[in-house]
Order: sequence, then structure tokens, then C-alpha cells
Amino acid sequence: MPLLCGRSIRVQQVILRTVAPFKTDKRTMASQIPAKFDIKTAYRMNSGYEIPALGYGVYQTPAATCEEVTLDAFRVGYRHVDSARAYRNEQPCADAIRNSGLKREEIFFTSKVPPKSMGYEAAKKSIESSFFQTGLDYIDLYLIHSPYGGKEARCGAWKALAEAQKAGKIRSIGISNYGVHHLDELEEYIKTSGVGGTIDVGQWEIHPWLPRDDIVEWARKRNVVVEAYCPIVRGQRANEPVLKQLSEKHGKTWAQILLRWSLQKGFVPLPKSVTPSRIEENAAIYDFELDEDDMKSLHFPSSYAPCSWDPTTSHD
Ligand SMILES: NC(=O)c1ccc[n+]([C@@H]2O[C@H](COP(=O)([O-])OP(=O)(O)OC[C@H]3O[C@@H](n4cnc5c(N)ncnc54)[C@H](OP(=O)(O)O)[C@@H]3O)[C@@H](O)[C@H]2O)c1
Repeated sequence: MPLLCGRSIRVQQVILRTVAPFKTDKRTMASQIPAKFDIKTAYRMNSGYEIPALGYGVYQTPAATCEEVTLDAFRVGYRHVDSARAYRNEQPCADAIRNSGLKREEIFFTSKVPPKSMGYEAAKKSIESSFFQTGLDYIDLYLIHSPYGGKEARCGAWKALAEAQKAGKIRSIGISNYGVHHLDELEEYIKTSGVGGTIDVGQWEIHPWLPRDDIVEWARKRNVVVEAYCPIVRGQRANEPVLKQLSEKHGKTWAQILLRWSLQKGFVPLPKSVTPSRIEENAAIYDFELDEDDMKSLHFPSSYAPCSWDPTTSHD
């Protein structure tokens, strides 16, 4: 369904004026947290390109409905879609991009090398398959989905990404689910191998019950954008008293409180929903602010409670 009608045209024009697709000097570096947020807030990555600070996740979104719900997300203002080869919905995401009425450069699209495609040759094939599936001319961000497979496989997959970045096919590259030991290994590999590539983004499960301070600190020091997956903990913390209290205080839902927390921590939250009212709700997080006490009440530095898989702790 085209977006070019009524309010959407105005939104598009505003975005065209204020969100240049890349290499502007005014954008906030990932290592700095902006004082104010709006739906157009973006971070500048090490690659020089920009990434919108709110993403729309499509893990477990069925391919048959993915185009429709992604178009819903574009309608309410999301401009960033987080997919992966493993999700089997890259194609409908790309169809949504094509059918949105928006310009390609206004939308930020991510895919990932699946765990079973680690190593140089397999990762290269994964990237080729993503282009074949999506029909896109370029992909904004490609991540290594997880560090499983051993050092050689991890470094080989990185080499494939770095070559695609150099060739301009993939604009920014990064990793997901890497522990600090995997990150150190990658940094050393980039320094000594000559393959190049910049670590632009890291994606991890992050929320108040899994703050991952060590990883976040590693990333911040290097201006690596921190994306937060499962930002609303898959609904599992909906009844936490602290969320109830903050929800009443701000007149917002528990999900909105968690997403606002993520933004104010300087992360890029990637909420997933296939429900139109929730897609809208999850983007309505710019009309309130958590104060210092609110943020403190969501500070659990010693909590380590993943709700998803946790490859960061692997040592193969
Ligand atoms: N790199 C990785 O290894 C990795 C792992 C997991 C996730 N991710 C990425 O991160 C995204 C988000 O993670 P996730 O999907 O696992 O978890 P999530 O976003 O924390 O939670 C999604 C769940 O919450 C429900 N929900 C959404 N908004 C809601 C609201 N406002 N109120 C109540 N319930 C709501 C959704 O239901 P409905 O859809 O039915 O509305 C869905 O069941 C994924 O889609 C994916 O893009 C990456």
C-alpha cells in the first residue's frame, strides 16, 4: 500500500530535509547520548553512515504477513528494519521498502550471516543470497549473527563482510551476540590481518535485567553502536512492580517505559510486533522522559537474566 498520501507526504518531506542518508557532521556519535530524542534521531557510525535510533524487529514475523506489518511500521514512522537470513523474511521486508513510496535511502535495512554460514566462503554466499532474495542494490547493515564456529570461522566471516563493505555493497558491518573475548579477538584480527572493515554496530539482548555493562563499555569506547534486542523482554517482565509504578507516573505502558529506558541509555532498541496497535505504541516514546530517579529504579547492574539465547558466553 503506498504511503504517499496526506500526513505521510509531510513526514517524508521532513525526513528528507533533516535526515541526510550519510556522512553529515551534525549527527550524534554512537558514544554520545543525545539530550533529546525524536523519531528521527540517528547515530553516526564508524563507517560514516547513519543509523536510526529506533528499529523494527521481524524475528518470528511470518513471511506471509511481513510486508504488510513492515508497511504499518513505516506508516507510523519507523525507518529501520532488523531482519536476518535466519528469519526467512528478507524478501517481504525488501518488498515493503520498494512498495512504501519512500526513497531507498530513507530506510535502513539489516540482515545477518546465519550461524550455519560462518567462515569466509559460506558468509560470502550468505551475502550473495541476501542480495538475490531482496533485489536491493545495497544493504545498510550486515551483522555476524552469532560468534559460534571457532576463531577461523569468525575471522573468515568478518573478511567476507569487510570485502563487501569495501565494494560498497554493504554500507556498515558488525557483529551480534559477541562477548568481550570475541570482540577482543576481532579487534586484534582487524589490526593484524589487513582485511579491514570497521565495527560499526553490535547487537545484543539488553534490557534492565540484562544490562551487559562490560560489553556496552567496550562498544562505547570505540563508537560502536549498541543495538538492544528483546528490548521489551518478550513481555516477560510486564508485571514487574517497578514498571507498574513508572507506567502510572508517566501515563505510558510498561513496554513504552522499557523502550524509553533503552533510548536514554543510548541504545538502538529493536522492538518486534505484528500487532498494528503495538507497532504504533512502541514508537510513541518521544512525548515523555524518564528522570534520574526513574533510570536509577531500573538499574540492576548485577542482574543477568537473558530471555533469549546467549552466545556471548561461548568459548569455541
Ligand atoms: N541478534 C539476535 O540474536 C536476536 C535475537 C532475538 C531478537 N533479535 C531482534 O530483536 C527483535 C526484538 O526481539 P524479540 O522479538 O525477540 O523480543 P521483543 O521485541 O522484546 O518482544 C516481542 C514480543 O512482545 C510482544 N509485544 C510487542 N510489543 C508489545 C507491546 N507494546 N505490549 C505487549 N506486548 C508486545 C510481541 O507480540 P506481537 O508480535 O504478537 O505483537 C512479541 O511477542 C527481533 O524481532 C529481532 O529483530 C535479534
